[in-house]
Amino acid sequence: MALLDIKNLTLEIDGSSGWMKALDKVSLRIEEGEIRALVGESGSGKSLIVRAVVGAIPEHWRVTADRMTWKGKDLLTMSQIERRKIMRSEIAVIFQNPLLSLDPSATLGEQLMESIPGNLVSGRWFWQRTKKRREMAIKLLHKVGIKEHKKYLGAYPHQIADDIGQKFLIACALVSSPRLLIADDPTRGMEITTKTQILKLLTRLNKTRNLSILFVSHDLLAISSMSDRMTVLYCGQTVEDGKMSQLRKRPLHPYTKALLDSAPSFRKDLAPKSPLAALDGTIPTLQHLPIGCRLGPRCPRAQKECVRTPELRHVQDHFYSCHFPLIREREKQ
Ligand SMILES: Nc1ncnc2c1ncn2[C@@H]1O[C@H](COP(=O)(O)OP(=O)(O)O)[C@@H](O)[C@H]1O
Ligand code: SF4
Ligand SMILES: [Mg+2]
Repeated sequence: MALLDIKNLTLEIDGSSGWMKALDKVSLRIEEGEIRALVGESGSGKSLIVRAVVGAIPEHWRVTADRMTWKGKDLLTMSQIERRKIMRSEIAVIFQNPLLSLDPSATLGEQLMESIPGNLVSGRWFWQRTKKRREMAIKLLHKVGIKEHKKYLGAYPHQIADDIGQKFLIACALVSSPRLLIADDPTRGMEITTKTQILKLLTRLNKTRNLSILFVSHDLLAISSMSDRMTVLYCGQTVEDGKMSQLRKRPLHPYTKALLDSAPSFRKDLAPKSPLAALDGTIPTLQHLPIGCRLGPRCPRAQKECVRTPELRHVQDHFYSCHFPLIREREKQ
């Protein structure tokens, strides 16, 4: 059974011009122990999916799905209490801008120790429990590669660098030993060495703790080294989903191909300094969504049929949503 299983998730936001489908039949399935990449340009709806999973959606927005389950339990119909319990103990989330997620008025040590739930801390007396919390906090810092625990437990958020901040947030996320870690663009804006360290840490946690990871990013190079499968999102629609190696070698959707082509080192056959085959135009706003396939106005392969939204089809376990996938050329050859 999949850990997280989402089928045809639709999320509508009310704007001045009426309801807008910010997510349109998105599907996403995460198995135990896998690292899943969720990729798409900025504004494609990645963070909205994260918010829908964790239940951080304003009450007046409309959320529907054919299926949205956590270990087989329906997330949409369960009680708030049950949902919060899952969020406290089984699913953890880290966001970009680590320093914004931390309380500026408390030290890292205070924040980490406070986040350890009471049931994990034994001891009859207060001082015993405090000592236990401190030991656990130190262990967690070491686990995420922060060796100088004395220095950092006493530091305030404004005194630490970005990479320490992100590692620290990962340590906080590990407090309850979650099964799934959702990392929403955790390396955005980081310089390459720091980024590499965070990616290595996530990969290590996946291997050593069998932690499933949903790695949300707009950065293909960052995800290529660590993910097993990739889901590609465009403008609130799932356009392609499959094994990382398959998608890299043989993308079926024109958008995935354009994404891959704009990351030169991702495709072995692209000569150095060759021109980038990007798409014309930019991602539309929610107020100006095209009818049918939302890539239509930017797609070099678009035809009349594309005003109908393409169904999600598949070749074995490789899913795509396009009336004229790149598969056809290969079949003709
Ligand atoms: N609170 C909100 N109110 C109105 N529109 C929103 C809100 N949050 C996100 N959106 C819109 O939903 C779309 C997807 O946003 P988001 O999920 O943040 O994209 P991504 O994370 O892929 O960059 C964007 O067009 C964004 O403007
Ligand atoms: S359905 Fe049409 S517009 Fe959409 S990606 Fe395929 S060819 Fe392009
Ligand atoms: Mg986002």
